Amino acid sequence: MWFSEILDIEFVKEYLRNQVNEIVWWWCYYIREIFWQLLIAFFAYTCVCIFFYVILKKVNHAAWQLPGPPRRVLLVTAHPDDEAMFFGPLIYWVTRSKISNIYLLCFSSGGDKQRKEELWNCAKVLGIPEANVTIIMSTELPDSQSVRWPIDVLAENILHYIESYKINAVITFDKHGVSKHKNHISLYFAIAALCIEKKVPSYCKLYVLESVNIIRKYVQLFDLPISLLSTSYWYLVTYEQRQIIRNAMKAHKSQYVWFRKIYMIFSRYTFINTLQEVSALDLELDFQFDDEYIQSNYEPVQNESNDNCK
Ligand SMILES: *[C@@H]1O[C@H](CO)[C@@H](O)[C@H](O)[C@H]1NC(C)=O
Ligand SMILES: *[C@@H]1O[C@H](CO)[C@@H](O)[C@H](O)[C@H]1NC(C)=O
Repeated sequence: MWFSEILDIEFVKEYLRNQVNEIVWWWCYYIREIFWQLLIAFFAYTCVCIFFYVILKKVNHAAWQLPGPPRRVLLVTAHPDDEAMFFGPLIYWVTRSKISNIYLLCFSSGGDKQRKEELWNCAKVLGIPEANVTIIMSTELPDSQSVRWPIDVLAENILHYIESYKINAVITFDKHGVSKHKNHISLYFAIAALCIEKKVPSYCKLYVLESVNIIRKYVQLFDLPISLLSTSYWYLVTYEQRQIIRNAMKAHKSQYVWFRKIYMIFSRYTFINTLQEVSALDLELDFQFDDEYIQSNYEPVQNESNDNCK
């Protein structure tokens, strides 16, 4: 009896239809479940971000800023506008600190006089007097995405600055240069060379601005929990304080075009700066794994030792 039913074509069709319906129903169910779970996770993460932000607004976060604090801070940038686009929170707090003085060393002028004036105006808005801004102009240092600047020229200038101003902390880009800009990366190689060659005076420490991936780069305060939990030194500004950084960026009139406006709205670098100390030990480990670095940037060092460059 049941044997003939199975063979019945209608029955088979009905059976398959039920199976398909059931599979579709489960898929819809799962997708709905996953959607809700993602939504809840997103909501919870947003709450964590807001929580961190509200708490940090109330407390003084000096304990997480550079240790010391350093009395004389040298910020080394590649182009006029780097300071406002990438180092705003750091500059905001250092210029307001009663202990620290800040100096800005910029390795190109962007080609014309107007950009120099823009940099001075921008620095003024940020609270750095004109006298503390040095712009180096050299044909060896062209403003270009694809040109590596000569490391020895950079290193020599930075070292000269450290020694003549008795700088206690040098801050610049890390080996990814925030945007992988070759000019930015050259600055990192310059201080790495100084560190490895043990030319940095004992009173001076080197720090780099951490680069983050492209998603973290454009999520504003959503990067807050990750930044705070993954780094030891950080600077954070509130929405109100950030307005000063955006106003400073507006001083770069020739540069303040639509994509930089969008950048200034969404970038985490206008809220948070996270810094890492550079040590000879880390650099040597890097050399072992990063062939490109060795081939293109590393001049032989006579002295191999594993101390930090303190
Ligand atoms: C600028 O440099 C001068 C002289 O070195 C210093 O006294 C002053 O505090 C610096 N300004 C800032 C805002 O750090
Ligand atoms: C290595 O450094 C020490 C001092 O730190 C110095 O006396 C020595 O000459 C250096 N060696 C070489 C090969 O440069």
